[in-house]
Amino acid sequence: TTTEITTTAAEEPPTLPTGRHTGCPFDPPAELTALSDRPLRRLRYADGHTGHLATGHAAARAILADPRFSSRYELLHMPVPVPGMPAELPPAPVGDITGLDAPEHTRYRRLLTGRFTVRRMRQLTERVERFTAECLDAMEQAGPTADLVEALAQPVPALMICELLGVPYADRDRFQSQVAVIFDQAADAEARGGAYAGLLQYLNELVLAKRAEPTDDLLSDLTASDLTDEELAGIGGLLLAAGLDTTANMLALGTFALLSNPDQLDALRADPGLAGQAVEELLRYLSVADPILRAALEDVEVEGETIRAGETVTVSVQAANRDPLRFPDPDRLDIHRKATGHLSFGHGAHQCLGQQLARVEMAVVFPALLARFPTLRLAVPPQEVPLRERSNIYGVISLPVTWDEA
Ligand code: HEM
Repeated sequence: TTTEITTTAAEEPPTLPTGRHTGCPFDPPAELTALSDRPLRRLRYADGHTGHLATGHAAARAILADPRFSSRYELLHMPVPVPGMPAELPPAPVGDITGLDAPEHTRYRRLLTGRFTVRRMRQLTERVERFTAECLDAMEQAGPTADLVEALAQPVPALMICELLGVPYADRDRFQSQVAVIFDQAADAEARGGAYAGLLQYLNELVLAKRAEPTDDLLSDLTASDLTDEELAGIGGLLLAAGLDTTANMLALGTFALLSNPDQLDALRADPGLAGQAVEELLRYLSVADPILRAALEDVEVEGETIRAGETVTVSVQAANRDPLRFPDPDRLDIHRKATGHLSFGHGAHQCLGQQLARVEMAVVFPALLARFPTLRLAVPPQEVPLRERSNIYGVISLPVTWDEA
């Protein structure tokens, strides 16, 4: 169309704004909101590539639903340079299905979806409740202050992944300390690399153990399929990588957001039945996993613009989740709103496999925390809470909280 020619030729494309709003740690940066006046626009990438940025909810959804867009890492350009990562990404390692397209992706995805059963999720709900209570007991005993990240937000998802994979109780310490190093933003690259190698080795051993003696867990179930040991260990690594930091940051940042919005906090405390709705709204409002990248395999028309074969699109989850056409008054955290339809778990073929588990964890943890500590508050001024600005999973590095002892 003619508009495409004038809008793309007239101006030098912007680069992707990063960080969050300087005034509110939960809002998108003001520069991104300014770029959201159009649902799709040109974007300059870190290596000079001219690609696209989708900020509109309908455009983002259409792109994520469209198989003409690829997830293969080796086809993607990075909007911003990623420290320690080459400009041209290698293909996805074995087991990492987020970087695959159909039909390879479909085969793994079918195998995995069949294992996240209703029965297994119900079983996991009971475990989440027990772990959460244990973490809260320990927090209360050590109180009346705590780092919520260390005391609750990290351990609950880590223990749940242990359950899912069937990590034996005796191995939990080894497993969890390696996981803690991998996700420790302050640890140096060497320590993290070592911990990752150790974890992969552990996952390999675990696969062999499950083959020899299957137990009631997802990894044991999967040994009955035709997946190789290497694929199984890789899938274990993927579940860890995808399920830990995301959920931990939703729990910690979600608590921070609730503490910063006392009217919403009071509403949830007064009616724990609102937990499910509050979780959806927090997912929308916080958009911790952002952005999602795709590369066009052929020319595709979106919102009247042509995305050419080979071009990368950055789907801004946070901008789409704040699209006023989809969510009125989008910058307001409102746990009474219907926030379903947000894109925080992605959309389409790669939509989050662990979303039911993540929802259960959040719907259990938030009300339990608020019930246990009726006077819970930040232990530092809000602007002193250290934020994870440079990670593709947004959140807090620590969340110092305090309460009045009974
Ligand atoms: C995929 C977000 C928790 C496992 C995704 C994607 C997003 C996402 C946005 C799509 C990526 C893309 O399209 O390229 C989140 C958030 C979580 C969460 C915000 C927590 C609040 C979990 C948990 C697990 C998990 C707990 C596992 C137990 C996965 C897997 C994929 C995925 C395996 C890849 C699916 C595929 O490529 O087909 N997640 N996730 N996630 N997630 Fe989650």
